[in-house]
Amino acid sequence: MHYPVLCAEALEYLAVRPEGIYLDATAGFGGHTREIARRLGTGLVIANDRDAESLEFARANTAEFAARIRLHHGAFSNLQEAVAEHGVRRVDGLLADLGVSRYQLTEPHRGFSILADGPLDMRMDQSQRTTAGDLVNSAAEKALADWIYQYGEERRARKIARAIVRARPIRSTLHLAGVVERAAPRTGRLHPATRTFMALRMVVNQEPQELDRLLDIAPELVAAGGRIVVISFMSLEDRKVKVKFQTLGREGRATVLTKHPVTPSAKEIGENPPSRSAKLRAVEMK
Ligand SMILES: C[S@@+](CC[C@H](N)C(=O)[O-])C[C@H]1O[C@@H](n2cnc3c(N)ncnc32)[C@H](O)[C@@H]1O
Repeated sequence: MHYPVLCAEALEYLAVRPEGIYLDATAGFGGHTREIARRLGTGLVIANDRDAESLEFARANTAEFAARIRLHHGAFSNLQEAVAEHGVRRVDGLLADLGVSRYQLTEPHRGFSILADGPLDMRMDQSQRTTAGDLVNSAAEKALADWIYQYGEERRARKIARAIVRARPIRSTLHLAGVVERAAPRTGRLHPATRTFMALRMVVNQEPQELDRLLDIAPELVAAGGRIVVISFMSLEDRKVKVKFQTLGREGRATVLTKHPVTPSAKEIGENPPSRSAKLRAVEMK
């Protein structure tokens, strides 16, 4: 079962008009795309994702509305091209549901999982060259420590980086998870390698840089009266979205629609526990 996170809330804030053109920057398995398409008449939704494999699932999951959906394979840095392909300069709304999908996170062959063995891959876009294995086995100890500290917010980053360098070559996800666990034994509920995996994933996919790019171009891509809706799962990301939206508000370029972030209901969290850290923010362009 696939649960698009904060779906009703995202649609409420997007305020889809039947004739509008919308951009789902992170189509994933097509959950939000399908619900946008369902509300369209003559309009269109451009469903973008940097993961070609996920786009094929999205295609199947949205087949019912295929006539109103155009799939596009690309990263946030290619969104202008995704929009231009459809003969428009601006869209009537943009949705971004950041991070990795449950599928990417749990499917062993994608290499994000600390629980099932797989290659050290972690590329959302499998046509990209650098994998997590390249970083783990070739990066300098200091770079590894900095990434794990900064992006993973892991206090034991230096110890972990040292253990990784000593254990090279590291061949698989479970091998890496074991190395991290021995260097930094479990202290709470979280698996001790969770933060390290998160940091590596962010570096492999250049997630901070991609989010910066998205926040830079989204206001250029959305027409006056159109909305930008962003769902994030990490505090570092939510902070960036909040600051950018506040700045757009202060500059008089947009109206902030969410004074506080919108979070999932107790019912949604009960049905889909990973949704618990989701935060939604929205602006309307002027
Ligand atoms: C949380 S999932 C989206 C799920 C989707 N809303 C649904 O209902 O199925 C995030 C998706 O964003 C994609 N993604 C993450 N960063 C991206 C980027 N910089 N450019 C394009 N797609 C990206 C991932 O590949 C993943 O499929």
